[in-house]
Amino acid sequence: MTNAKHDLIVIGSGPGGYVAAIRAAQLGLNTACVEFEPALGGTCLRVGCIPSKALLESSERYHETKEMLAPHGVTVQGVSFDLGVMMKRKDEIVKGLTGGVDLLFRKNKVTRYSGRGRITGPGRVAVEGGAEPATLEAKSILIATGSKSAPLRGVTVDGDRIGTSTEALSWPEVPGRLAVIGAGYIGLEMGSVWLRLGSRVTVLEYLDRILPGMDAEIATEAFRLFKRQGMEFRLTSKVTGAKVEGKEVVVTCEGQEPLRVDRVLLAVGRVPYTEGLGLESVGLKPDDRGRIPVDEHYRTSAEGVYAIGDVIGGAMLAHKASEEGVACVEWIATGYGHVNYEAIPGVVYTQPEIASVGRTEEELTAAGVAFRKGVFFFRGIGRARALGQIDGRVKILADAKTDRILGVHIIGPRAGDLIAEAVAAIEFSASAEDIARICHAHPTLAEAVKEAALAVDGRPIHA
Ligand code: NAI
Repeated sequence: MTNAKHDLIVIGSGPGGYVAAIRAAQLGLNTACVEFEPALGGTCLRVGCIPSKALLESSERYHETKEMLAPHGVTVQGVSFDLGVMMKRKDEIVKGLTGGVDLLFRKNKVTRYSGRGRITGPGRVAVEGGAEPATLEAKSILIATGSKSAPLRGVTVDGDRIGTSTEALSWPEVPGRLAVIGAGYIGLEMGSVWLRLGSRVTVLEYLDRILPGMDAEIATEAFRLFKRQGMEFRLTSKVTGAKVEGKEVVVTCEGQEPLRVDRVLLAVGRVPYTEGLGLESVGLKPDDRGRIPVDEHYRTSAEGVYAIGDVIGGAMLAHKASEEGVACVEWIATGYGHVNYEAIPGVVYTQPEIASVGRTEEELTAAGVAFRKGVFFFRGIGRARALGQIDGRVKILADAKTDRILGVHIIGPRAGDLIAEAVAAIEFSASAEDIARICHAHPTLAEAVKEAALAVDGRPIHA
């Protein structure tokens, strides 16, 4: 049994926890990080952002080679893929990155404890179930335990025919027919992977639209493009059950014909993960949605206990968790630390990508904010034409009086990279006129952002 004292114990090593631990160590805090999974990196690195992007890339290469090279005059025959190789590549990328976090911990002198961290009282954490149990003490404890897939009544995940994103990242064969429950980030990204590899994909969505929370104009265009790619949708479909019957799964929806498929991906959101954390030992209780309440410095109501990332609610995004982790430990070490929630981008890595930052048109309308809108379509951009990716648009929403940029929404090629300019603009309180007057290299996709900014003032050049 190890007994040790630290300045800070971080529970959880996802992008919230591991980034916080490294930053704390940089600031001179004697920092420990407790993780029960064999690999560091949390959902994002092990079974989320990274492996899904690896499969999105591989499946897109296959699809492109098969379907999209003819207009370039490139002829290919007999295109096929080896799912095993694809999966192995994905696993190696994950291994490299999770191992990289291990190296970063060693370089920064963050002490890693393997096992489940349980708070046993003020300033105390027990590490259990790992190779070596430990009892740790620290002035500060940071909970960064993240989230897990939300369950759905009537749908029992069996890890085989009915899975969450974790299973859908490792299926051993391409399902002939796949039902995706939920048209959010996960459903559309993983649905895209399997669609490109040959599945017939039906997305079942409770609402009358896809991508809830995203700007409706952009989501409507995404819906049209995904349908064109062959993804099938059943909107306003409330899934009430999924049952394995022989080799099939029968998915039932309220008031509709049941759907018979080979596999089901359940992607109806994620819920904070706080089981077995010992919150009661310091008088903490999650709220009715399972989140740990915190103040603006990520302090819980228990002295010396902080929480960040998916476990506190807000957008469940890796980069939001990292920013909070840094702000929290900077506040602990220096008394300063801040996250600008107006400038947190969101990206869906489909083809085309969808990215946004700031407020949507619907949010501004509901809040009674007067705004001006500039839209520019990628088909007017030379580089988009050269790439052969002309679908999509950039939309900029600016305050009607001050011209300050309030929201930017992009669907189109490399939207996830293009949004960085918009994030910087919002961070620096830029106006649409500022972006319109910045010189953008030609020919680049970024010119669409400049043109959309010009369009806010009714003067785009290439429209
Ligand atoms: P989500 O909240 O994005 O979407 C879930 C969808 O399921 C919603 O559209 C909801 O209306 C629908 N739904 C709920 N109950 C239903 C029912 N009974 N029948 C049919 N549809 C139903 O959640 P998702 O996609 O599972 O992602 C979870 C979290 O992970 C999100 O918060 C997301 O931000 C994060 N994530 C982020 C990614 C990225 O940044 N690229 C990638 C993957 C996940």
